[in-house]
Amino acid sequence: VERTFSMIKPDATRRNLTGAITKMFEDAGFSVIASKRVWMSRREAEGFYAVHKERPFFGELVESMCSGPTIVQVLQGENAIARNREIMGATNPSDAAEGTIRKAFALSIGENSVHGSDAPETASQEIAYWFSETEIVG
Ligand code: GTP
Ligand code: MG
Repeated sequence: VERTFSMIKPDATRRNLTGAITKMFEDAGFSVIASKRVWMSRREAEGFYAVHKERPFFGELVESMCSGPTIVQVLQGENAIARNREIMGATNPSDAAEGTIRKAFALSIGENSVHGSDAPETASQEIAYWFSETEIVG
């Protein structure tokens, strides 16, 4: 089994989609082995998304991540990283396939409801960014 890091972004928590999105993860066979609600500081958002700091949308991305509560989670399951990205759908909801979270809920490429790690190294880094070992109960 594999672990991945997931976030339910402020655009989704604001619309009370925390339960609906978590249900889609659980229905897909993932176990939610860590979960907490955080309101990111600018510093935390900038640190988390540091790889994107030269991108033109960086300011907008940080702004939206600081605009309300986020649910940070660790998902565990077979092939969790790739399968989570399948379930999320394409970054831009207009490209997202039917049945995906972003197709169902995302508002725009910026307010796209969820984040999921893209590789084993980023999954470990992102999990460690938000959780201590004792908060993860597998
Ligand atoms: P994540 O799971 O969030 O990392 O999505 P991703 O891997 O599909 O996308 P990427 O890592 O390329 O971008 C990270 C996040 O930046 C996306 O989820 C979007 O919310 C945001 N983003 C990407 N491109 C744009 C853009 O052109 N405009 C805006 N406003 N936001 C963008
Ligand atoms: Mg990404």
